[in-house]
Amino acid sequence: MVDLRAFKLFTAFAVVATSVFAQNHSSEQSEAQITDPNQECTTYSYPTVAQNIANFPTIWQPATLLASDSAGQALWSKIASGVPNIPPKGQLNGSTINVTYDSVNDPDCWWTIHQCTTPKLTGLPSDVASIPEPKSMGYAFDDGPNCTHNAFYNYLSSQNQKATMFYIGSNVLDWPLEAQRALADGHEICAHTWSHRYMTAFASQDAFAELWYSVKAIKLVTGVTPTCWRPPYGDVDDRIRYIANAMGLQTIIWKFDSNDWRVGTNNITAADVDADYGLFISNLTAGTFNGVGGIMLTHELNNFTMQEAVNWYPQLKSAFSHMVPIGVALNKTQPYVETNYSLPTFQQYISGQITAVGNASTTTPGASQSPSPSSATSNKKSSAVTIRVSSSGTWWTLLSAGMLLSGLLL
Ligand SMILES: *[C@@H]1O[C@H](CO)[C@@H](O)[C@H](O)[C@H]1NC(C)=O
Ligand SMILES: *[C@@H]1O[C@H](CO)[C@@H](O)[C@H](O)[C@H]1NC(C)=O
Ligand SMILES: *[C@@H]1O[C@H](CO)[C@@H](O)[C@H](O)[C@H]1NC(C)=O
Ligand SMILES: *[C@@H]1O[C@H](CO)[C@@H](O)[C@H](O)[C@H]1NC(C)=O
Ligand SMILES: *[C@@H]1O[C@H](CO)[C@@H](O)[C@H](O)[C@H]1NC(C)=O
Ligand SMILES: *[C@@H]1O[C@H](CO)[C@@H](O)[C@H](O)[C@H]1NC(C)=O
Ligand SMILES: *[C@@H]1O[C@H](CO)[C@@H](O)[C@H](O)[C@H]1NC(C)=O
Ligand SMILES: *[C@@H]1O[C@H](CO)[C@@H](O)[C@H](O)[C@H]1NC(C)=O
Ligand SMILES: *[C@@H]1O[C@H](CO)[C@@H](O)[C@H](O)[C@H]1NC(C)=O
Ligand SMILES: *[C@@H]1O[C@H](CO)[C@@H](O)[C@H](O)[C@H]1NC(C)=O
Ligand SMILES: [Zn+2]
Repeated sequence: MVDLRAFKLFTAFAVVATSVFAQNHSSEQSEAQITDPNQECTTYSYPTVAQNIANFPTIWQPATLLASDSAGQALWSKIASGVPNIPPKGQLNGSTINVTYDSVNDPDCWWTIHQCTTPKLTGLPSDVASIPEPKSMGYAFDDGPNCTHNAFYNYLSSQNQKATMFYIGSNVLDWPLEAQRALADGHEICAHTWSHRYMTAFASQDAFAELWYSVKAIKLVTGVTPTCWRPPYGDVDDRIRYIANAMGLQTIIWKFDSNDWRVGTNNITAADVDADYGLFISNLTAGTFNGVGGIMLTHELNNFTMQEAVNWYPQLKSAFSHMVPIGVALNKTQPYVETNYSLPTFQQYISGQITAVGNASTTTPGASQSPSPSSATSNKKSSAVTIRVSSSGTWWTLLSAGMLLSGLLL
């Protein structure tokens, strides 16, 4: 079993041996070799993104559904009539000023109030807040891709460790080669919205757009369509869950917060974060994870959060029986809409088959690497994307090229 990353490092080494200028922004492989954080964060133009940027809302601004987006409009029109009549809550920045809500009965299962994860609305699946495997950890990072992530991803590769990456759509279009690295390294990619605002504050169509464009950005850049998402700040209620579920996105949350993202705000210090990592491990020792495994909120956000992950990895690894991507913990062998990628089952992963690969790579290791800019573009023109509309339980097909609707049969 050839580990794809080992193969890449081998080829990278061969290239380095022949050229001292192999560190550049021309491909996933060459980007992954950059070691100077300043150079990593030098902006670059990626043709596939440049050619398609008009099909997205403004990066880092709250998303709205573009009038020209016929595929997005068509999907939204299928979903809209079923959205529960729950009003938006508060402001996009999380302010809850003037919000009136029955926080005792929590009728909308608003996570932000009491960390509710079992919807009150019938027909919606519960959020994933723990993993089924006892004494294990669902290993995941939010807010990437961060431009300085090479040291962190190199470390994960050196440990043969895979994780679930919850990527922000705006970051994906800013740093497409970094996003491709997650797939090439065998991590699982899920969505983390377009602009990272509080989702329950959005009007329903805008909430749809936040999810739609983050998924679309990941598809454009990496070639895969995620089937999972995590709400920023955990801010989800049954209205937002309904929209995500109707788009085929499983809602993933957490039960333990490392608070790594809060350092520097509200007097949260590095020592507080160390204490939270320590509490997570002492919960394990105390038996909290004897029935179900744990998920802790941690981030690919900045040098501190990534270095903290590196620093704590050996202790987590020795304390928990297994550390696996969340999809692996759920035996979710088909993590994307595209069927030619698969994740190992939990059993396979813990027996040493850790790599999330495309079918093609079982014969040629290079085959599952991220598409080059030109092949990504041509792939986009020719391939059909299937999106599950689970509210009606049927499948329909959207042509990604020009977003022409080809299967409007429902
Ligand atoms: C960038 O690096 C790749 C290999 O990593 C190499 O093939 C290519 O020639 C380099 N491009 C430039 C412009 O230096
Ligand atoms: C949040 O945004 C609202 C306007 O939408 C503004 O009035 C309020 O001051 C903001 N709050 C914070 C904490 O930034
Ligand atoms: C809150 O309500 C008060 C009184 O109705 C109003 O003046 C104020 O503008 C509201 N604030 C926000 C942020 O909506
Ligand atoms: C931070 O700590 C200082 C000193 O203890 C205190 O004065 C300040 O109010 C705290 N700020 C916050 C946001 O808690
Ligand atoms: C378990 O974690 C929670 C939340 O982080 C913490 O409050 C609690 O003290 C921990 N329990 C143990 C036994 O460490
Ligand atoms: C990425 O991390 C660097 C520090 O390593 C930080 O300066 C930068 O702001 C982060 N980028 C984003 C978009 O959060
Ligand atoms: C954090 O920054 C330091 C100093 O630049 C660097 O040595 C280290 O590799 C970085 N850690 C990560 C995980 O990026
Ligand atoms: C995953 O599959 C294994 C058997 O391979 C089984 O023991 C375990 O219960 C499954 N987990 C889930 C969440 O389905
Ligand atoms: C790839 O593997 C998946 C899961 O085993 C399977 O469903 C799919 O049909 C395979 N695709 C091809 C092209 O062989
Ligand atoms: C999966 O299929 C797409 C479209 O046919 C192709 O571009 C991609 O390279 C394939 N990936 C793998 C790992 O085979
Ligand atoms: Zn986040």
